[in-house]
Amino acid sequence: MQITLETTPFAAIETDALVSYVFEETDPVQGRIAEIDQAAAGLLRKLAKSGELTGKTLEFTLIHAPAGLKAARLLLVGAGKREQFNGAALRKIAGAALRYLKSRSAKNFAFLVRESDATGENAQAIVEGAFAANFETDKYKTDKKNDKNIEAVSIAGYSDAERAAGEKGLSKGRIIADAQNFTRDLVNEPSNKLTPRILAQKAEAMAREAGLSVEILDEKKIADLKMGALLSVAQGGPEPPRMIVVTYNPSNAKPGAPVIGLVGKAVTFDTGGISIKPSEGMEKMKYDMAGGATMLGVMRALAALKPNVKVICVVPSTENMPGGTAQKPGDIQTAMSGKTIEVLNTDAEGRLILADGVHYAKQLGATHLVDAATLTGAIVVALANINVGVFGSDQAWTDKLLASAKAVGEKMWQLPMDDEYREFIKGSFADIQNISSGKGGGSITGAWFIREFAGDSPWIHLDIAGTAWNDDAKPWLAKGPTGVALRTLVHLVLSF
Ligand code: BES
Ligand code: ZN
Ligand code: ZN
Repeated sequence: MQITLETTPFAAIETDALVSYVFEETDPVQGRIAEIDQAAAGLLRKLAKSGELTGKTLEFTLIHAPAGLKAARLLLVGAGKREQFNGAALRKIAGAALRYLKSRSAKNFAFLVRESDATGENAQAIVEGAFAANFETDKYKTDKKNDKNIEAVSIAGYSDAERAAGEKGLSKGRIIADAQNFTRDLVNEPSNKLTPRILAQKAEAMAREAGLSVEILDEKKIADLKMGALLSVAQGGPEPPRMIVVTYNPSNAKPGAPVIGLVGKAVTFDTGGISIKPSEGMEKMKYDMAGGATMLGVMRALAALKPNVKVICVVPSTENMPGGTAQKPGDIQTAMSGKTIEVLNTDAEGRLILADGVHYAKQLGATHLVDAATLTGAIVVALANINVGVFGSDQAWTDKLLASAKAVGEKMWQLPMDDEYREFIKGSFADIQNISSGKGGGSITGAWFIREFAGDSPWIHLDIAGTAWNDDAKPWLAKGPTGVALRTLVHLVLSF
């Protein structure tokens, strides 16, 4: 899909559809919409009066052969209340418009921003929304006869003076959206097409293409380094684990700046191991590598956006299988850090592999850590599929991430990390145990387990179990992987 910025006056744009957005207010026909109304001889005002055009969030009004416009169609999308309108709303509107038009076989459209919206940030949001919306999860469908495709999008409503800022936002948006779709592509892969070894190959190929350094630790190296927690999960099946390390090391790194460590859980399939999961819905556990895929996508974007901080990405990857050699409840494992872990439930495997991932990231020089993981079902109970669960050991570092989430329109919510919860994972027969001895707070105790390995380094844990996968298609996004948290993390790194 091509995307360009266009300074042609909207009435003269030849396109399958001219798209704009309307606010929900007493008179929704204002500003640029009033200009379109004038060109179209008062049609929009008529529609508003009749109640057909209200501006309610994601209401679609499609007008064919609009008078006064070169466009074949005019599509107006409801933007909701003006006071609540922001970049996140614009991103969704652009995405929803793309999917709406694609389903009606349009090949291209021009997205016209409203009178005061011709900024770089908005161009970025529109591009991100459009590219995310254009992503489909039909890779393994063979019948492509009736495939519908949007070939070109233009962003309109920018003056010559606004062009440079718009184009800058556009290319940044393109980089971020491509990275997010790279992540979603990985998450979409079923476990027979994406084993830890294949994930490592794909990470390596991505890193080489992007100009990042990459090192893949195989099972032998992992054993040499005594990553006992990762190995304990991997021993349940024949697929060997991998520890993927991708580094962005800019020559202009600010002296004294933090070295950011991004650690992502990549369990390419989670059966639960001997503590096996029920079969209903188990197929979804192919997405248990979403945390790792997110971090790899972040690195891909950083390589192009070139921030001046060093970032080390560590992705422990394994399957969690219940084979004859699998670890069993009660087994005691020694993590790379030397801490001993009583594995009371083999299905709490994400925290085990992150234990070694986080320790290794620190050993490689990371001073500030963020991990992302589809860690707990409990986070779905707490926050549903709306908010990412955020846990932190250092409020200043956590606040920085929350500010980034807000800036890019990703919903995240911080949960408490009181010391009392830590008691729940004290081990009876080893240093710590991998599930809680208390009632409730499952996501918090999971976070505390990982924190044990972060030590004193400022650390954040993102539980994306509820948000990394869309169970139902949204008007602006296909069913399946979402790529959540990528935009926040890119923003966080760029904010130094
Ligand atoms: N991968 C799962 C978490 C998960 C559950 C993700 C549901 C998405 C949807 C994780 O490895 C797991 O199984 N966690 C257990 C932990 C429990 C045994 C303490 C869980 O949440 O049930
Ligand atoms: Zn599990
Ligand atoms: Zn898991």
